[in-house]
Amino acid sequence: MSVSYKSFSLDEEINRRDVPALKFHSKVLGSGGENLFAAGVADMDFKAPPSVLNALQKRLSHGVFGYEAVPDGLLPSLSHWLYTRHGWRVDQNHILRAPNILNILAIAASLFTEEGDGVIVQPPVFFDFFDVIKENNRSLVCNPLILKDGHYRMDIGDLERKASDPRNKMIYLCNPHNPVGRVWTRDELRVLGDVCANNNVLVVSDEIHGDITFADYEYTPFGSLGADYADNSIICLSPAKCFNIASCCSAFTHITNDTRRQAFQTENSRLTVNKNNAFANVAMEAAYRDGGPWLDKVITYLEGNAELVNNRLKNVSGVELIKPEGTFLLWLDFRRLKLSPEDLMSFLRDKAKWAVTRGHVFGEEGAGFARLNIACTRTKLDAALTQLAVAIDNLQRQ
Ligand SMILES: Cc1ncc(COP(=O)(O)O)c(C=O)c1O
Repeated sequence: MSVSYKSFSLDEEINRRDVPALKFHSKVLGSGGENLFAAGVADMDFKAPPSVLNALQKRLSHGVFGYEAVPDGLLPSLSHWLYTRHGWRVDQNHILRAPNILNILAIAASLFTEEGDGVIVQPPVFFDFFDVIKENNRSLVCNPLILKDGHYRMDIGDLERKASDPRNKMIYLCNPHNPVGRVWTRDELRVLGDVCANNNVLVVSDEIHGDITFADYEYTPFGSLGADYADNSIICLSPAKCFNIASCCSAFTHITNDTRRQAFQTENSRLTVNKNNAFANVAMEAAYRDGGPWLDKVITYLEGNAELVNNRLKNVSGVELIKPEGTFLLWLDFRRLKLSPEDLMSFLRDKAKWAVTRGHVFGEEGAGFARLNIACTRTKLDAALTQLAVAIDNLQRQ
């Protein structure tokens, strides 16, 4: 049975507990978490694009799953996607496969920095950056973002100071940024790129959220800024988030510098991370080749969900939405409730019945905030917003 894009509804409620989905699992929700609004783990509750489902069904019905080569169409479909969607023309020879993004971050740190060297991050930022740095015995160097009038920007003066310290050799850039939802502009990226290049700091740009940007905002692949910028960078790409195929895909890294790319290739061989998964290959090729119309529909839906949150929270005192420019992750500022980070999480869980990601895991700058995943049906989101409004109202009456 083939699935068509036109018959596809994002309003369909799918029971993700039918499979061991992490977002709904007791590992994440804890015991008694069955009735919580599960909005933590960064994936979507929507079915993958029809093109992906059809390609997987076709591959499954073939029935033989022996060793396979990379399909001829995979890299062309990725490079065509990057060009038609983002205007970035890549040389397919500059792209290597990797199991996932975190693996690329870890290999980059281990190959191009020494133990004890500093890796710069811009908190509040995706918490796994911290773990990768620590687990690879590198030093975590923070260049916190500046929040002013509800808008985040980079602190370039502080970045210059940190980059000029010769012990700091690398930056993990989150482009677009999880969790604050900024889609960095070309100018912002150029300034960061110049500071890094002038100080021999290698830019490792995690662009996993690049394909989900809202109207008026455009994702700029760091590697598209120009040959010099590309030469001082390692770009991490993945279809996991935008096509909702995190459990059946792999990632890609774009490295134009020949020496670094060869080093990466050699390390991939040494670690034997170059085996092919037929389902991942089929899913990725179909997603990049034919998933565009589905993704456009998803982005429109997410914009509608973000708008709903914005409208509903306007009437709730004590919580503010940081305007999202992309991603399906919203950054909510609860500081006016004046609760400690622990009390805020207990309040959200016990009173609002929300299981969201606590802000302070993204760095101390995130204390008093929480990250809300809006990639769910609007009906569910609407009900969750009502629960929050009632809980805050009750809190303020106490
Ligand atoms: C910014 C960012 N990078 C990387 C990942 C994880 O990517 P992967 O599963 O490919 O390691 C996530 C998942 O939430 C993310 O938000």
